[in-house]
Amino acid sequence: MATLLRIDSSSRLEGSFSRRFGDELASHLDAERTIIRDLVKDPAPHIDAAAIAAFFSDPSGHGETEQTATALSDKLLDEIMAADDIMISVPMYNFGIPSALKAWIDQIVRIGKTFDFDGQKFSGLLQNKRAFLIIAYGADGYTDGDFKVADFVEPYLRFVLNFIGITDITSVPVEGTNVGKEAEAEARARDVIASVRPHHQGKETFTVS
Ligand SMILES: Cc1cc2nc3c(=O)[nH]c(=O)nc-3n(C[C@H](O)[C@H](O)[C@H](O)COP(=O)(O)O)c2cc1C
Repeated sequence: MATLLRIDSSSRLEGSFSRRFGDELASHLDAERTIIRDLVKDPAPHIDAAAIAAFFSDPSGHGETEQTATALSDKLLDEIMAADDIMISVPMYNFGIPSALKAWIDQIVRIGKTFDFDGQKFSGLLQNKRAFLIIAYGADGYTDGDFKVADFVEPYLRFVLNFIGITDITSVPVEGTNVGKEAEAEARARDVIASVRPHHQGKETFTVS
């Protein structure tokens, strides 16, 4: 069953561009199953010392303390592992991602689960997943203008997703939401969304007799 994991991170539950275009992409993708993880309505806590100790110790020695410490991370990992597509809707806050989203990333980038290190090199462990980044920027010029160097949202998320093995990434920028350029930005975002392959086109049908 094609599953979409949707991560929302704008503090604005109403009037949010990233959430609105997240709705449009979700509807375009038409997944059979959608898991919604709203990091504002239901924030992921910052990782604590107990979780870090458990993340970096041998799971064979784990007891109840470690299981409790990693319970939320395990649940968030189950969600990402079950997904074929991962969509992150995100606003730019002070040139980076909201801390709500960073807290989620710190829970799911985990050695032995989403990445590995063999003593020489790192490898991502997630495979055959697509990711979609719906990014709302108040100003414009981040994708190909003067502010490109100040975009610590798209390149950061792309790098982290690559690090955990997700390389098929489509970015949907919605730029200039605070400077009266929404209309152009919305039209461009809709063009990108229209170019995405929805699930029903990717399904295979087997006729048996
Ligand atoms: C706390 C805060 C910080 C922001 N920082 C930036 C910024 O650094 N650069 C920018 O272009 N827009 C910035 N903005 C504007 C938002 O990126 C813009 O309003 C965007 O549409 C928010 O996403 P949303 O519509 O999904 O809520 C900021 C907005 C807030 C609330």
